[in-house]
Amino acid sequence: MPAPTSPRFDNRAKDEILSRVDIAQVIGRYVNLKQVGSSLKGLCPFHKEKTPSFHVNPARGIFHCFGCGKGGDVFTFLMEHEGLEFKEALAQLAVETGVPLDARPAESEGPAGPAIPKTELLKIHEVALQFYYQQVRQSSIAVDYFKARGLAAGLVREFMLGYAPEGWSSFCQHAGQAGFSDELLLAAGLGLQKSEKSSTYDRFRDRIMFPLCDITGRCIAFAGRGLNSDTQPKYLNSPETALYHKSKTLYGLHKSKAAIKTEGSVLIVEGYIDYLTLFQAGICNVTATSGTALTPDHVQILRRFTSNVFLVFDGDDAGIAAAQRALPIFAPAGLTVKVLVIPDQEDPDSFVRKHGAEAFKKLLLTEAQHYLTYGLNRALAHHPLGDGPEAKSAVIAELTPLLTALADPIIRGEFIKQIAERLELDARLIQGRFNRSSSVYPRAAAPEPKNEDVSADYLRTQGAQFIALLIHHPRLAGRAQELITPEIFTDDFSAKLYSMVVNQVLSQRPVEALMSENEDAHTKTALSAMLAKPVEAPDETIDEEFAHCVQRLRSLYLKNQLRLIVRRIKAEPQNAFALLQQQKVISSQLHELQRT
Ligand code: GTP
Ligand code: MN
Repeated sequence: MPAPTSPRFDNRAKDEILSRVDIAQVIGRYVNLKQVGSSLKGLCPFHKEKTPSFHVNPARGIFHCFGCGKGGDVFTFLMEHEGLEFKEALAQLAVETGVPLDARPAESEGPAGPAIPKTELLKIHEVALQFYYQQVRQSSIAVDYFKARGLAAGLVREFMLGYAPEGWSSFCQHAGQAGFSDELLLAAGLGLQKSEKSSTYDRFRDRIMFPLCDITGRCIAFAGRGLNSDTQPKYLNSPETALYHKSKTLYGLHKSKAAIKTEGSVLIVEGYIDYLTLFQAGICNVTATSGTALTPDHVQILRRFTSNVFLVFDGDDAGIAAAQRALPIFAPAGLTVKVLVIPDQEDPDSFVRKHGAEAFKKLLLTEAQHYLTYGLNRALAHHPLGDGPEAKSAVIAELTPLLTALADPIIRGEFIKQIAERLELDARLIQGRFNRSSSVYPRAAAPEPKNEDVSADYLRTQGAQFIALLIHHPRLAGRAQELITPEIFTDDFSAKLYSMVVNQVLSQRPVEALMSENEDAHTKTALSAMLAKPVEAPDETIDEEFAHCVQRLRSLYLKNQLRLIVRRIKAEPQNAFALLQQQKVISSQLHELQRT
C-alpha cells in the first residue's frame, strides 16, 4: 500500500505543479544536459565526476545519478541542490508554474485582529521593494551615500538597496493609491498609526533601505539605516510578522547559498554593509544576522549548506562580546567553527576597504581560531593565571556554558584536556564538575542521516531487477501479482517496494507519483534509480527475461527457506522430524525449479 501522504503538504498544488513543470528546464539551469536516447544526461551537481552519470527523464519527471545515488522529482532536486525546505520549493515552483497555493490565512502569530494572508504580505513587500529602489534615482542623498560607502550601482541593483524618502507618508500614500489597505500596511509593519483613528504613516523615513529576503529571494522585511550619525536608532528593522522572524533570517543567503556550497564554508558577519562589501569584493560565501544575535535556528539553516563556519566579528568591544555569546550556540551543532575577530577595531567592511580582499582572506586563514580555543583564550585573558588560584576557577566558571553545551562527549573530553593543560590542572578535576550539570542550551537535533545512497549493489539484486522490469513494462504487473507474492522477497525493503509498485501499476497510476507520496529517502532513491534505469533488453525478449526473474526469485526464496530450516533444526531438536520433512519438500521444489 502506498504510504498515506502527509497532510501538512498542499497536495493538490503539488500534483498540479508536477504536471505543469518541466523538470529538464528547472535542472537545466544548474546542469548542462544533453539528450541521450529518451533521457538527458549531464555531470552530476551533487558529486564530482568527469563522465556524466546524472540522468533526467522529463517524461517521468525524475532525475537520478548512477554515480552517487541521488535521485527524485523536481522538488527533491530543489531541496537538495538549493537547500530548500519542501514548503520553500513548493512556493518557488508555484510561482514559476502559476499554480495558486492554498491561501490559508497567516497563522495567528502577529497582533490580534483579522489574520492577513501571507500572500498579501508578500505583495505589499514587493511593492515596497520597487518603491524604495525607485527612490534612489530621485535622490542624490542615496546615490551619494552608496558612493561614499563604496557600493557600486550594480550591487545596489542586485540587492535592490533603496531609499525611504523624508516625507511622513510617501510610501503609505503610494500603496494606498495602488489599492492596498491600511490594515495590510500595518500588518506588514511598513505603516504605523498613532492611535486607532489617526491616519497611517511610514515606519521608514529618510533611511537607506536594505531588503531582507527569504531563502528563495522574496522580500519579507526591511532594515533601514539612518543617514546621519545621530539618527536613532542607527538601524531600524521591520517588526516580526507572519513573514519575518528575525531569529530565522539570514541576510543575503538567497544570493550566497551557491557560493557557500561551492566554497564549502560560510562567513557570518555582523552587519549588512560588511556583507555587501565582502560580496562585492568577490567573497560571496557570506551571510549576516539581521537585528539579532545568532540563534540556534540560524545554525540549523546554515548547516543545510555547509558544516564549516567562520564567525567574523568586529574588533570593538561589542564584537568581542558578541563572539563570546555565539560560541555556546554552536557547541551542540557538531559543526567546524572558527572565530575571527578583525584586528585594530576594524569591521570587515572597513578592513577590506583599507587592505583589500586578499588581505582579508589571508587574515581568515592565519588568524581564525577554533571556537573552543578562542573561548579558552578569552577566558584566560579575562582571568590571568598570574592573579592567583582563583583565576583558574574563574576560567572554568566562564567556560561552563560552553562546556555544558557541547553535546559530543568526545569533543567535550578533548576540550577538557586542552583546558587542563593550559591551566596545569588534572583533567579529572574539571571533568568531575560536568558530569553533574546538564546543558542549559537547547540541543540541536542530531545531524540528519545523509540521504542514504541506494548502492549499485541493491540495484543488482534480483528483487530490484524484477521491480524495475515491472516499472518499465507495466503490462507484466498482472502476471507478476499472480506469480509473486511480496513474501517471496528475501528483504523487507524489496517486499514493500514491490507491493507499492504493483498496486500502483494495476490501478493505472504513474509509478513516479510514488516518489512524492513517500517520505522515506531510501524508497525515493530506489524508485528514481529504477525509473531512470535505461531499459537494456529489447522488447521481444522481455517475456523471457520476466520468466527468468520469476524463477530466480523463487529459487532465492526457497534457498532462504532451507537456510532457516537448518537453523531451526539446531535450535528446536524436539521438532527435528517435522522440520526434516519440510526440508525435503522444499529441496525437491528447488530441484524442480532448477531443472526447468
Ligand atoms: P555601518 O555603520 O553602516 O557600517 O554598519 P555596521 O554594520 O558597521 O554597524 P554596527 O557594527 O554598528 O552594527 C552591525 C549590525 O548590527 C548592523 O548591520 C545591524 O544589523 C545591527 N544594528 C546596529 N545598530 C542597530 C540598531 O540601532 N538597531 C538594530 N535593530 N540593529 C542594529
Ligand atoms: Mn561598519
